[in-house]
Amino acid sequence: MRTKISGTGMSVPDRVVTNHDLAARMETSDEWIQQRTGIKERRYIDPGTLPSDLALEACQRALESAGLEVGDVECIVLATLSSQADFPGTSFFLQDQLGAGEIPCFDLRAQCSGFVYSLSVADAFVRSGTYRRVLVVGCEVHSTGLDISTRGRDVSVIFGDGAGAMLVEANDDPDDPGEILSVRLHAEGKHAKRLWVEAPGSGLSPARFTQEMFDAGLHFPHMEGRFVFKHAVTRMPEVLRETLDIAKVQLEEIDLFLFHQANLRINEYVAGQLEIPSEKCFNNIQRYGNCSAASIPMLLDECVRSGRLQRGQLVSMTSFGSGFSWTSAVARY
Ligand code: COA
Repeated sequence: MRTKISGTGMSVPDRVVTNHDLAARMETSDEWIQQRTGIKERRYIDPGTLPSDLALEACQRALESAGLEVGDVECIVLATLSSQADFPGTSFFLQDQLGAGEIPCFDLRAQCSGFVYSLSVADAFVRSGTYRRVLVVGCEVHSTGLDISTRGRDVSVIFGDGAGAMLVEANDDPDDPGEILSVRLHAEGKHAKRLWVEAPGSGLSPARFTQEMFDAGLHFPHMEGRFVFKHAVTRMPEVLRETLDIAKVQLEEIDLFLFHQANLRINEYVAGQLEIPSEKCFNNIQRYGNCSAASIPMLLDECVRSGRLQRGQLVSMTSFGSGFSWTSAVARY
């Protein structure tokens, strides 16, 4: 049984936060942020909007583009590092809002690689005959967890809020070329603390969260930026090639390359190393920042809707993130 991508959707909040807006709240500048990361603006939710609201809209659009109803979906896999509550996962709130009945749903935690990890799980469900149609969702609300001050400026200027969704389903039509050809997943937990949010956490005592932890800012992301950068530019080309080898596809045959949107400079470097022409790459970090698990499905949806990716074309999707975790997938759309 083959798995195909039958629908895509995305959702971002209306509120645009520019680099100039951030510069009014911390010591930074539009020039610094653009030069180092390529980001011009990102979106933040307004009070009252939930992560599951963004996920809901992305899923509804994915279903609409696949020409399917919510009743056709048999399982939901949602990737996030910014869960709506400590438990249960965001997917449960989404399942209820979607009106998806009692279908199984769960969150998957693999940070910025979470979407491709989830896609791999969904692909395995479909190939094994467990479920015919799975909604795969990436959903992040970073804005409520950032240190928007000079102390946290290295991290906080990078991230934005958004959600992306993909409907994958069994393809038993021999005339339909749509197929996820290969997915590779990797992780290296020894670097877990190079990019992490420590609190609240059940590894902490005497409690998961205390005033001291709050004062020390343990609830904000901490990142060794240069270390992350170096690993990303090594691991992404490695796993991309590995995935193509398994799929028996040449790099030159790929029509569209999508890279996780952590930093435009990382993606330019990776594309340069692999000698990928810039017209075969698509980035949206300039407008949305890094939306972690949501970045790849957001990219894919924008490419599908703008006609940049056509049915029958080959798309490569590659990510790197906290964990460390890195992944790549190649699909015939
Ligand atoms: N505005 C202005 N100055 C800033 C700043 C900001 N937003 N953030 C950091 N700086 C300062 C630092 O304090 C430092 O100042 P100093 O030299 O006086 O000490 C200087 O800029 C250089 O900091 P550094 O962290 O070495 O910058 P960098 O060139 O490594 O760029 C990143 C920082 C975060 C853009 C870069 O390291 C990066 O993108 N790393 C990968 C991040 C990533 O991919 N994360 C997500 C993975 S999913």
